[in-house]
Amino acid sequence: MKNIIDEGRKFPLPLSSADTAFAADAISAAVKKTEANLAKFTGLFPDDTTIGNVYHHREPQLPGQSKGGNFGWTTSFWTGILWLSYELSGEEKFRKAAEEQVESFYKRIVEKEDCEHHDLGFLYTLSCVSAYKLTGSEKGREAALLAADHLMGRYFEKARIIQAWGNLDDPLQRGRIIIDCLMNLPLLYWASEETGISKYREAAAAHAENALKCIVREDASTFHTFFFDPETGAAKFGKTHQGYGDGSCWARGQAWGVYGFPLSFLYTDNPEFMAMAEKLANYFLNRTPEDGVVYWDLVFSDADGEEKDSSASAIAACGLLEMAKHAENEESRQYFQHAGTIILKNLYEKYSTAKIPESNALLLHSVYAKPENLGVDEASLWGDYFYLEGLARLKKDWKPYW
Ligand code: GLY
Repeated sequence: MKNIIDEGRKFPLPLSSADTAFAADAISAAVKKTEANLAKFTGLFPDDTTIGNVYHHREPQLPGQSKGGNFGWTTSFWTGILWLSYELSGEEKFRKAAEEQVESFYKRIVEKEDCEHHDLGFLYTLSCVSAYKLTGSEKGREAALLAADHLMGRYFEKARIIQAWGNLDDPLQRGRIIIDCLMNLPLLYWASEETGISKYREAAAAHAENALKCIVREDASTFHTFFFDPETGAAKFGKTHQGYGDGSCWARGQAWGVYGFPLSFLYTDNPEFMAMAEKLANYFLNRTPEDGVVYWDLVFSDADGEEKDSSASAIAACGLLEMAKHAENEESRQYFQHAGTIILKNLYEKYSTAKIPESNALLLHSVYAKPENLGVDEASLWGDYFYLEGLARLKKDWKPYW
């Protein structure tokens, strides 16, 4: 493994056990919001982010797409919120709404509507693998296996990577991976478990190993994206897409690593994934300001006047809580568990909509893509999802959909 500097644990944590009592109130507020959203978003999907903290029906981007339709990479976060609400409340109305969306995801993969990208993992894990795990849905299982097969079409055997975006012959995207893809790999690991066919797991593990070697820099920060030569597998160069610069560390990218590497550990038992997750987590936590929530790029601090990305902190909190389950000693377990809990407590108290009736979102102040001025200081579907997943992890022995 390349020599990565670990800064160590500098994030200040109270010595006593972090208090999780707030989780019940936070969940109750979030589930109530979700219930109120059912009328507008049953069978239809919210947009990626809010406008003025309010979700509207998804806006078509291409001919053939309809308002509120199932396209883009984020629709499953809404379905995932429905599944979490079902688990947390036991209310059948959430299950029914989620099941209706499973039909939509089934149609999407069968008809290959907006499926030419790597985000099939996000899309089918939270909508259909979840349906199968929670209710035994055969339709969910079939759709998720079809999605895993389609995702395998983006795997370059020689380079052992999954290309993120664009056609495989697009000269601008060919051989490019992005750190977010770590969250798409659980679909492939699951497909191997489910079918007994090893090729999915082998591809996922190989991709994660390459990400570990190349997308992580020597100081344990990460590139958002990295180019490989798909013919030889040679590592080329890192480049940002949503971060401040090629040399800076996009906060949500780092968070995808903090959660994504432990998920690969979960399925492979390769200790290098956990060791790397810990280094990435230290880098992230050491740049987390006093209010517990990071700026959209970790290059920024309180003096810079930049926006926070609450979604990055929600994702990292889920990663930390997952890491706590696999920690090699009690001290590490407590550290990860406390750090994740403290972030979620801050999100609830200072960033959630629990006391903001005008908003139909769960978590305010995230940033989609600052360089494109997209969804800046708005709520995002993924921020809402990971906030609720984190709370579920505090409330019960939550079994990951991932
Ligand atoms: N996966 C895209 C993003 O995090 O914005």
